[in-house]
Parts: sequence; C-alpha cells; structure tokens
Amino acid sequence: MGESVWLLDRVQSDWEVDTLCAGLADRGIDSERVDWGEILPHGSPPGFAGPQGIREVPALAVVTARVLTRHTEGDLALLYDWLTMLEESGTRLVNPVASLRVCQNKIRQAATLAAAGVPVPETRAVRSAADVERCLVDWDDVIVKPITGHASVDVIRLVPVGRGGQPGSLLGLREDIVIWHWLKRHHVLCAQKFVENPGRDLRAVVIGDQVASCHFHISTAPDGSVRSLLHPLRWAPAPLTGELAELLVASVRALGLDMATIDVVEGPDGPVVIEVNPTVSRWEPVEGTELDLTPDGITAAQVELITGLLRHPAA
Ligand SMILES: Nc1ncnc2c1ncn2[C@@H]1O[C@H](COP(=O)(O)OP(=O)(O)OP(=O)(O)O)[C@@H](O)[C@H]1O
Ligand SMILES: [Mg+2]
Repeated sequence: MGESVWLLDRVQSDWEVDTLCAGLADRGIDSERVDWGEILPHGSPPGFAGPQGIREVPALAVVTARVLTRHTEGDLALLYDWLTMLEESGTRLVNPVASLRVCQNKIRQAATLAAAGVPVPETRAVRSAADVERCLVDWDDVIVKPITGHASVDVIRLVPVGRGGQPGSLLGLREDIVIWHWLKRHHVLCAQKFVENPGRDLRAVVIGDQVASCHFHISTAPDGSVRSLLHPLRWAPAPLTGELAELLVASVRALGLDMATIDVVEGPDGPVVIEVNPTVSRWEPVEGTELDLTPDGITAAQVELITGLLRHPAA
C-alpha cells in the first residue's frame, strides 16, 4: 500500500481540494485528487482501476461531499460497497464508511444521535398520506424530506390548515397532491416535527475534536426558511458557548466521524441538531476570516487531522 492520500471527488476540481492537496504536499504527504467517477472496482484479481489501469490503494482517502451526493450509478448500496472494498483493502477512509452510511439516512442518523443523548427533532419514516396526517395530529407543524436527501431538495413544511382536501383529512388539496407525488418519487420519506426557531441555522464545522467554525445562516425569506432560492441566506458570526461546543463534538463522536459539518437550530428548549453532514466542503469563504475559529485555518486543521490519522489509522 502506498503512503499516499486520495482526495476522492467528482465532476470538477475546486479551491478546497486543490488547497488541501497543496497543504499536504507542504508536509511531505503525497496526495492527489482522484475522480471517483473514473474508479472501477475489480473483483478478481482485486483492485481499483483508474484511467491508467490498476492503482495501488492509498493509505488514506478523504471522501468529499460530491462522492456521496452525486451517486447515480445504480442503488446507493453500491456506493457503500465500493467504499467498503476500498476500506477492506487497507485504506483509512475519512470519514469511515460505517459512519458515512449512518449519516446518509436521516432517520438512522437521528436514532444514533438520540441514543447518545443529542437533542434531535422527533423523527419517523412515513409511507402514506395517512402516516403524514398522523404526524400533523402529533406535531401540528411538520417537515417532510427525502431520507437520503441533500441541498434541501424536496424538503417541505406542512401545517394542518390546507384547504379543499377530502372531508375529515388534515391535508388540503395541494398538500395531498404534493405528498402523493413525493411518495411516488421517494416511496418512503423522513418526517420530523418542525422545531420552532428564530429563522436561522447554526452551522458548525468540527475537525477532530475542535470546532473549526460556527456561524449563523440567517434567513432573509418571509417564511424564515434558510434554504430559499429566491432569498439567499446571510452569514454572521455566532457565539460558541462551551455547551454548544460540547454538543457539536458529542454529535461527531456519536456518529464515529473524524470531521463533519453540522446544522443546528435554536429551539425553544435549546439547540437541536438537524443534520450532521459527514464532510467539510466549501470552506474558502470562511478560511482566515472572523468565522474561522482555527489557529492556522481550516485547511491546516484538516492537514493536521490527516497527518495524525496516517500515523495512527485506528484513531
Ligand atoms: N425538523 C426541522 N425543524 C426545523 N427546521 C428544519 C427541520 N428540518 C429541516 N429544517 C430546516 O431545513 C434545512 C434543511 O434541512 P436538512 O438539512 O434536513 O435537509 P438537506 O436536504 O440535508 O438540506 P441541506 O443540504 O440544504 O442542509 C435545515 O438546515 C433547517 O433550516
Ligand atoms: Mg442540512
């Protein structure tokens, strides 16, 4: 096995991957951006082939967000099988494949966090309009989203005031139609109690056991949504209390991650973790600014983490 690092990515290169590569090179670590879409797993003889043929697997591979979110080659299970094969070949994945897999499923992720005492919204799977109605009865204000979704694609919020629905139904006509289509498209969905909040997310990056950044994503939309395409969110520094830092690090530990980006909302009873993304992406706008809480930058913090893991892969 080579003492090298693969930065697994797809589609195009970006500042983040290029900068991380350069940061690793400065520490004498041989790293390269590898297009995951070009890697072909071989069964027998075993190995991973790139455009130039069978590659020696690296000591460590960083799985970037696009590897996970742009998987279109068949069932999602295949992605995890290929990553597991890489891990079984001796590569230390950042993050480990078992943790990536738990994070991918919003219901399993919530269950894992809740079991570790991390506050999460009430969360359940729904597979019918009747299941969604039950959520409206139980919670009154409901978020429905794809179980393995990202970028807020198909995330909707429902309250039981829709008009024109079936007699006795809590779903209005338009809600009923949208849920019908969502269930046809996704078959089973993740439903959550909507956590009341001041119209902003706390977004934090954790690298190792350090909070590398923590800032607000403030909604500019009339409905308080931070993910409106018409009303782009605003960034602002957020105070990092000791309690919040503990919650963020506990979330990362509970999921067995080396680094993560976490979405939190400030609920009526305190912070609630909405999502732990098992990647750190797009840190160029934060690097070296007042939002950057690291001593030497977010790139340097990742280089530090990777260097440590190369020395102690099981850490
Ligand atoms: N249960 C909830 N209560 C309150 N707000 C929520 C809830 N679920 C989602 N949201 C809001 O919607 C946003 C997107 O939700 P979530 O992170 O689960 O979906 P996603 O598809 O992973 O989106 P993204 O990649 O944009 O973060 C959250 O950052 C939060 O502002
Ligand atoms: Mg999110």
